[in-house]
Amino acid sequence: MERIAQHAATPSANPAVPPCAGLCEALEAKREGVSRRAFVSAASLAAAVAILEACGASGATSPGGSGGPITVSLASYSALAAVGGVARVDGGSGSPTALVRTGASTFVALSLVCPHAGTTVAYTGSGWTCPNHGARFTTTGTWSGGQGASSLSSFATAYDGVAGTVTISRPS
Ligand code: FES
Repeated sequence: MERIAQHAATPSANPAVPPCAGLCEALEAKREGVSRRAFVSAASLAAAVAILEACGASGATSPGGSGGPITVSLASYSALAAVGGVARVDGGSGSPTALVRTGASTFVALSLVCPHAGTTVAYTGSGWTCPNHGARFTTTGTWSGGQGASSLSSFATAYDGVAGTVTISRPS
C-alpha cells in the first residue's frame, strides 16, 4: 500500500504520461491476491462493456420497425393538421415511429431507428439528426449527410379521411 501511494504521488518524467498510467490498479490487484491474468481479463471485459454502452447510448433500439400496426387519430396530433407537420406517434410502444404529413391526404411513416447503429434519431425542425455519430436525414427520411448510412426505413400508410386516421403498417 505504501508503494502504491508513493507511485501515485510521483510524477512521470514524461509530462505527456499521467503519474499513475493505470499501474496503481494493477498493484492494488496484486496486493489483494488477484492474479495478473484475472485482473487483465476483468479489465478487458470492463473496457468492452464501456465501449458497447457508448455505442448504444441515447436510446438505442434494435434496427427495423417493430411493435405492430398503429392507427393514429390525426385529432390527437395538432402538428399533423398542416402539410409538413411531423409527430412521433408510437406512444412509447415498440420501435420509435414518426408520421409526416406530405399532402392533404398523403403521409410518410418513418422508423426513427438510425440505420447506422440503431440510435433513435431526433427531429431538428428541418430534418432528422442522429445524436450518436451525426447522420442526417430529410424530414421524409432520406439520408442527407453526416455519418454514412442508408435512409430511414419507412412503413406503408393508409389514410381514412372520414375517420381522420392514418394506419401505419409497422411490422410486429
Ligand atoms: S448510430 Fe451512428 S449515425 Fe446514427
